[in-house]
Amino acid sequence: MKWWRDAVIYQVYPRSFADSDGDGIGDLPGVVSRLDHLAELGVDAVWLSPFYPSPQADAGYDVADYRDVDPIFGRLADADKLITEAHARRLRVIVDLVPNHTSSRHVWFAAALAAAPGSRERDRYIFRDGKADGGPPNSWQSVFGGGAWTQVADGQWYLHLFDTGQPDLNWDNPEVRAEFEDILRFWLDRGVDGFRVDVAHGLVKQADLADWHLPMVPLTGPGTEGAPRPPMWDQDGVHEIYRRWRKILDGYEGERILVAEAWVQPAERLAAYVRPDEMHQAFNFEYLEASWTAADQRSVIERSLAAGAAVDAPTTWVLSNHDVVRHASRLALPVGAPRPNGIAAGDPQPDAALGLRRARAASLLMLALPGSAYVYQGEELGLPEHTTLPNEARQDPTWFRTGGESVGRDGCRVPIPWEADAPSYGFGPSDKSWLPQPPVFGELALDRQRGVPGSTYELYRSALRLRREHGLGYGALSWVPGAADVVAFQTDNLLVLTNFGPNPAELPAGAEVLLASEPVAGREVPTDVTVWARLP
Ligand code: NOJ
Repeated sequence: MKWWRDAVIYQVYPRSFADSDGDGIGDLPGVVSRLDHLAELGVDAVWLSPFYPSPQADAGYDVADYRDVDPIFGRLADADKLITEAHARRLRVIVDLVPNHTSSRHVWFAAALAAAPGSRERDRYIFRDGKADGGPPNSWQSVFGGGAWTQVADGQWYLHLFDTGQPDLNWDNPEVRAEFEDILRFWLDRGVDGFRVDVAHGLVKQADLADWHLPMVPLTGPGTEGAPRPPMWDQDGVHEIYRRWRKILDGYEGERILVAEAWVQPAERLAAYVRPDEMHQAFNFEYLEASWTAADQRSVIERSLAAGAAVDAPTTWVLSNHDVVRHASRLALPVGAPRPNGIAAGDPQPDAALGLRRARAASLLMLALPGSAYVYQGEELGLPEHTTLPNEARQDPTWFRTGGESVGRDGCRVPIPWEADAPSYGFGPSDKSWLPQPPVFGELALDRQRGVPGSTYELYRSALRLRREHGLGYGALSWVPGAADVVAFQTDNLLVLTNFGPNPAELPAGAEVLLASEPVAGREVPTDVTVWARLP
């Protein structure tokens, strides 16, 4: 059974999900204690962001040991328990694999620093001599800001596409390849159902490490179509790695999966990652970046479905994750404006009511589309971005590396509110929370929404139940022609309609509304509303 083709996969960001010991940082026992919530919500699988030993220079995406659990999150036995308890609730478990870089505290990197230039130890990473003028080997910049090279005591430089604490591995080195194949087996043997592969488009670099003077992340988004491919991203050599990994996964029972985090476009290049002998899914970031207009939404849906179909892979859909402004805030920003890297207190503040209204409409549209959908923790509560975090609280390396120019991603990582009247809104047993929670989290806490008709939580629950009943994740959709600012499609006798325009859109006579993102009177669908309706 190819469970992943239509799966709804819920992203748990462990440090912000649930804190069992009151230290203000979420942990694996905390996740276990809330698995019933995920089962009740009705998702099929959980993807956990990294929980491995790490100095936390990039919130765990700097891994010091790939085969253990960081003490702040628990112990290896807690990971085992989580897998067992999730499976007991028919939830699959996907873990994060970070193969582009290790932490600078990984034993391999310590050995590389202790060894001489040209040594076997240095060859596991990308060490180079500087330029004759004393500068770094090339012009590459870090995705988080600042240079992508750091000089070590003997004068050589090492590459880090992200933070200084995240040295890039050398994937031309067979030892690196063998190590990661073994790491895959380690977690497969413990029962995980798959891996979300971090920076899947970055492992192989163009051999000459040619200079690059354009921005480091021009890969997706409006206006980047046809742009030259940077020498550090989406090199053809990555595919051979994933073919090997696929063979390993196929050797295990139960349809284990690989999911690419690859900021690659156009959709056809992304589809190459999910050819039949490579990964199973790739995040559809083009969808996440599409503007809130009927034309853009329709065209990204069409393009995504066509690109997936060409390689017989399901499309994925995603609106939020731990790297982007939450869609309940993002969708209230001026339509067509570039996606900001965080929102600061001094920036124009998004209209919360408009953002939530559009977010509910967007989620209902997404959950009706054929393919696999990703839900980021808290979006089922309609949580907004924390847009007024005090600067002293910030932890994202982006904030530090850009000298405060980009506030970064902390605003979407704030701990989840479970109970309105408890300390830390029920995140943990104490009032500690590694990032402060805004007061609105009280109103949006789970216990204020559970069982309340019309709440965002109940909207998601109903959507997931109906999605399953109607087999919406599978099959094809057919577009229903109509007004230019309406997106409407049909699967069997279920009509899905989102109105992006200023005037009400009309449902066909006899249509019976099953679910709507806002109350609908009669046949009129108001602005920024999605409706699921049964046709006569
Ligand atoms: C993508 C992850 O989602 C992000 O959080 C991280 O900072 C980078 N990859 C680097 O690992």
